[in-house]
Amino acid sequence: MTRSILIVAAERGLGLGLARQFFERGWHVVGTARRGADVAGLREVGNADSRRLTVATIDVTRPDEIPAFLLSLGSRRFDVAFLNSGIWGAMHQSAAVATNQEVTDIMMTNAFGPIRLAHHLVDRLVSDRPTLAFMTSHRGSTALNEEGGLELYRASKAVLNMLARGMHAQNRALGLTVLSIHPGWARTAMGTLDGAVEPEIELETSVRGVADVVERHMGSGLNLYLDYRDTYIPW
Ligand SMILES: NC(=O)c1ccc[n+]([C@@H]2O[C@H](COP(=O)([O-])OP(=O)(O)OC[C@H]3O[C@@H](n4cnc5c(N)ncnc54)[C@H](OP(=O)(O)O)[C@@H]3O)[C@@H](O)[C@H]2O)c1
Repeated sequence: MTRSILIVAAERGLGLGLARQFFERGWHVVGTARRGADVAGLREVGNADSRRLTVATIDVTRPDEIPAFLLSLGSRRFDVAFLNSGIWGAMHQSAAVATNQEVTDIMMTNAFGPIRLAHHLVDRLVSDRPTLAFMTSHRGSTALNEEGGLELYRASKAVLNMLARGMHAQNRALGLTVLSIHPGWARTAMGTLDGAVEPEIELETSVRGVADVVERHMGSGLNLYLDYRDTYIPW
């Protein structure tokens, strides 16, 4: 049977790369974008077989959009729901000077928004091997933070990891798998800070690795914090 994945934030960057990767592996892909976003690239992914590509609309910071979004999914169930949305946040990245709005924006987009949506998606997952995946960062590791800095981004991904781990614990009876995946430092708008810096890896390398990690661990029932090379990251 054709496997299906919901990718939240799939119209550019790693999300778009993942949509293409899973489509090419034969999956049915539902990719989302925010209202008004340019979804031409995402639609193009489905050119070879438009029945396997669906575009939906959701902004993870907007709880008011959730009911219509769920309705638009119809009765479809997913093998994997992948929550990918993220922002870098204020360039200063400093907890000392951050405004309340800057903290709210990054926490809602990177952590609480995706987790809130994920709670609504649990019963849209297949019942035998349900899997949630979150696009986190190695910057979210408390154990690895030996150098400080990047406080807003680190904090948002640490919270994402914590809440994802909690979701796994709360849904153990369902056998829910929860994967927190670091995609590597990859060539995207965020990874290059809009062209200002050189990343470590190409987008293709990242999304191929992330898709491999999903396929390897989906349905395991575990909560894992891994990078795109399938290497464990300390919490
Ligand atoms: N690239 C890297 O090196 C790297 C490293 C570690 C982790 N990550 C993580 O990987 C994920 C994807 O990043 P990327 O590098 O592909 O960045 P990107 O090219 O900047 O893409 C970010 C994606 O998030 C979406 N998004 C932002 N705010 C949203 C919201 N409120 N609701 C729904 N979607 C929203 C964007 O949609 P719009 O087009 O509407 O803005 C876009 O699709 C992020 O979670 C990021 O933290 C990236």
